[in-house]
Amino acid sequence: MRIDILTIFPEMFEGPFSHSIIKRAKEKGLAEIHLYDIRDYAENKHRKVDDYAYGHGAGMVMMIQPIADCIEKLKSERNYDEVIFMTPDGELFEQKIANRLSTLENIILLCGHYKGIDERIRENFITMELSIGDYVLSGGELAAAVISDSIIRLIPGVLGDETSALTDSFQDGLLSPPAYTRPSEYRGWKVPDILLSGNEKEINKWNTHQAIERTRNRRKGMLDEGS
Ligand code: ADE
Repeated sequence: MRIDILTIFPEMFEGPFSHSIIKRAKEKGLAEIHLYDIRDYAENKHRKVDDYAYGHGAGMVMMIQPIADCIEKLKSERNYDEVIFMTPDGELFEQKIANRLSTLENIILLCGHYKGIDERIRENFITMELSIGDYVLSGGELAAAVISDSIIRLIPGVLGDETSALTDSFQDGLLSPPAYTRPSEYRGWKVPDILLSGNEKEINKWNTHQAIERTRNRRKGMLDEGS
């Protein structure tokens, strides 16, 4: 899978994409991430990418020309399954969307800034708009990093243990049950006996029960949605 990210801050991605699972996915050739600096496409000598908003007062708007040229250049090189704009007024990103996006070949993630982007970009180039939550970030970069991470870990072969993405919270509509590792007792705090029993059937039952209880206590809406 190839993810092309359009941003005015490509350096912001250096950290998140050079460690752990994403790094491994890139090294294994399972995911490619390419960063495009929108300023490189600006047809003006100051590499300006924003301008005053028509109509309503304060706040700068990202200009259409650099973004349109960058997207068009990429589209002339390959087909894209989705051209996604990161925005707080987009569809709320969730695991189901991550699952679908992880099956695609090529996607573009466009990071906005300032008061937004010229609406004509949304009308003419964008196929999907995503928000990572009901709060406003300074720009779409952190959202694009979050979305890229959640997609890439789902690509078959990226995680060492193939089953581990399938047992993630949300994949079966439930939060994950609590997890423990050695030692079985620390400062008198014990791992539940059942997990030490070796009785796989009872352990599975316990895990399912815990997952349901945890979901009921923390995210009741998820149980209601599933019924
Ligand atoms: N850009 C600014 N805030 C955002 C959010 N919550 N989700 C996605 N992109 C954003």
